[in-house]
Amino acid sequence: MKIQMVDLKAQYHVIEDEIDAKIKEIIHSSHFIIGNNVAEFEREAARYYDIKHAVGVASGTDALHLALLACGIGKGDEVITTPFTFIATAEAITYTGARPVFVDIDEKTFNIDVKKIVKAITKKTKAILPVHLFGLSADMEKIKGFAAEYKLKIIEDCAQSFGAEYKGKKTGAISDTGCFSFFPSKNLGCYGDGGMVITNDDDIAERIKILRNHGQKVRYYHSVIGYNSRLDEIQAGILRVKLKRIDEYNEKRRKNASLYTERLKGVNIITPSEPEGYYHVFHQYSIRTSKRDLIQKKLADEGIASAIYYPVPLHLQESYKELGYKNGDFPVSEAVASDIISLPMYPELTAEQINEVCKVIKESL
Ligand SMILES: Cc1ncc(COP(=O)(O)O)c(C=O)c1O
Repeated sequence: MKIQMVDLKAQYHVIEDEIDAKIKEIIHSSHFIIGNNVAEFEREAARYYDIKHAVGVASGTDALHLALLACGIGKGDEVITTPFTFIATAEAITYTGARPVFVDIDEKTFNIDVKKIVKAITKKTKAILPVHLFGLSADMEKIKGFAAEYKLKIIEDCAQSFGAEYKGKKTGAISDTGCFSFFPSKNLGCYGDGGMVITNDDDIAERIKILRNHGQKVRYYHSVIGYNSRLDEIQAGILRVKLKRIDEYNEKRRKNASLYTERLKGVNIITPSEPEGYYHVFHQYSIRTSKRDLIQKKLADEGIASAIYYPVPLHLQESYKELGYKNGDFPVSEAVASDIISLPMYPELTAEQINEVCKVIKESL
């Protein structure tokens, strides 16, 4: 049985008429950049998050970059983050001239280990950038405590956590800024690149709006050097159609995750955990196993996709050689990188498909 990691067509078929009508309407309006759909999407997203401002930008990477700049992060500063994430998290810090300072992860949640944060704080530390990896929130109460004590900004990387919750609060709306990616395969994805920053801070929102559009508030009057980082109308229109359904999509992901966990009981692998009070939205369903290569090969033989997020932690990436980290610096991240594997996960995945994936895993062991 052929099973993909993500089947975007399965979702499109259900909403095809609405999506096609929206795209046609935008093409007929000939208004493609920062128009009514971006404004309406920003309003609807702000309402969803019960927050003052949502600002659409061109990607999740830009959301992080502009949020860091808007929080005043720059050359000579240090920003604490996790080495077990997609490279964009750290790249955004590097773009500002600041230095990413890595802190190892917790082996159960795969998120930054809050017990290890204090040791990494120096006089240069200006912010903490937690990632809510795979759709599970980081331990935000502790992170907010450190931020208050050491006067640090918090920039949440919510690229994988649209709709996730931590103790009744949605990730992204817990701290100074929440940064989202709408890359097509994300829980809320558009049909190209897109991103968003949310905040309750009027000044941060205003700065991001200026930065995303060439440093201008009034057309052709540029107060700062900005960027071309606008969410376009077609992507915003698609996101408006999907935002109405995001809770349903996330519930389906959670149901699929429960089914996987149920079917994989008694097998010698570690399934994902969801601590008490957390609402995991399972952007990925990732298991740990010493037999990763074997499982991946058997799945592939049966036409079933799997993926390794992430094979090399950021402190060991060639592009970050100059930071001076070495093998052994973050043992938990290194161990997880060596035995983690993500299984197919999307809302439309069927019980039959999940049964098949689990059957092949059991047989291969
Ligand atoms: C954790 C994380 N941060 C940042 C990003 C960057 O988002 P984008 O690809 O929209 O630039 C991604 C997405 O790939 C991600 O998974």
